[in-house]
Amino acid sequence: MKTAAAGASPRALASPLMAPLIPVAKPKLPVASAILPYLKEIDANHWYTNHGLLWLRFQGLLAEHWGVESNNVALVANATIGLTLALRASGVRPGGLCLLPSWTFVASPAAAIAAGLRVRFIDVDPATWMPDPAAVAARDDLDEIAAIMIVSPFGMPFDVRPWDELSERTGIPVVIDAAAAFDTMRAGGPLAIARSPMVVSLHATKVFGIGEGGAVVCRDGEWLERFRRLTTFGFLGSRVSTAPGINAKVSEYGAAIGLAAFDGWTAARARFAALTERYRRRLGERGAVGLQPRFGEGWVTSTMNIVWPSDCQDGAARLAAEGIATLAWWGQGCHRQPAYADCLRDPLPATEDLAQRTVGLPFWLDMTPTQVDAVCDAVHRACGAEARGDAASRPRAAAPAGMPVRAQIARAVAAARSERR
Ligand SMILES: Cc1ncc(COP(=O)(O)O)c(C=O)c1O
Repeated sequence: MKTAAAGASPRALASPLMAPLIPVAKPKLPVASAILPYLKEIDANHWYTNHGLLWLRFQGLLAEHWGVESNNVALVANATIGLTLALRASGVRPGGLCLLPSWTFVASPAAAIAAGLRVRFIDVDPATWMPDPAAVAARDDLDEIAAIMIVSPFGMPFDVRPWDELSERTGIPVVIDAAAAFDTMRAGGPLAIARSPMVVSLHATKVFGIGEGGAVVCRDGEWLERFRRLTTFGFLGSRVSTAPGINAKVSEYGAAIGLAAFDGWTAARARFAALTERYRRRLGERGAVGLQPRFGEGWVTSTMNIVWPSDCQDGAARLAAEGIATLAWWGQGCHRQPAYADCLRDPLPATEDLAQRTVGLPFWLDMTPTQVDAVCDAVHRACGAEARGDAASRPRAAAPAGMPVRAQIARAVAAARSERR
């Protein structure tokens, strides 16, 4: 059945009525003038892709940022392909099972399947939003497991040692989806570089973006050489294809944006850190909502997730009625996505609970303190009203089926206004 949203024309979706007063994200990459000097270098070099000079410099800066040698980092077209090729470079057995949390973005299971694996979703520890390494180590089906993919939730730091140990003890390759951990993994930062490969996304929505791009960090030079080969048709230093690789290179233009992004990184990080601190302080004041674990503990990311208390069922709708956009970045968990509904899975009670109650609040580089305060006040109102059971928390009449999206929004806004009077 066609939903009202699916039936809305792009024009309707672009209507001012649809535009929230405070969007949930507003990515900001280096501006044209900051990239221009690097573009001029490309013009002068006549070298546009295939491991050019800017590519080499950008890779070197990433390595320095993460505190590893330049040959421990490999650029890749995006993190999804990076994860896929990382699994392949780890020699996973096609058709084997890959354990991974359902509490992640769909790119993680997509990469496992693209690497020829079958997915088995596992649950997370509600305290860390990650699978518990001791519980995974104690599984009685490890003989059947071809790979394990671990996800740093939204860039959160975690102890990599138990995963490295598990991999070494069992021989099962572990690949770390560190898509949002660009800052957390910095030299001296709270997420140490593991022995297992770590894959970072440089997508525009990430804290450090180049549009589309990714990077893989691994201390094992031989592994990284296998990985590099897979990103470039199986070639490495010659035109002899020694592995069925694909084209997953980053061009000089991507590298140019990366170099410009490094020029502005210190200032950008300071702004992200200030936003993080303000949210932490303002939302912590009343303690009504939970924050993502370890949020604000010496790392920055591009998202800000809260967990509603269980008695606050419609917090996101209340914020929407105030013109504040939110987004459930990981939806209801990957196992609820039609593409992955048939995957094997353990019982997932913690994932189900987190997925129901977690939502991303507005968070972007140029957000003002006033905007952060407005969001925090609205969050407090949403929880407080629920607890009092006042008029705002009474169930609203459902919108008639098939009502156009624009009309539904107008109705929601009007209802919220009249309730506030
Ligand atoms: C947890 C996670 N893994 C993988 C990816 C995929 O990254 P990319 O868009 O660079 O392919 C994302 C992107 O948001 C992500 O959040």
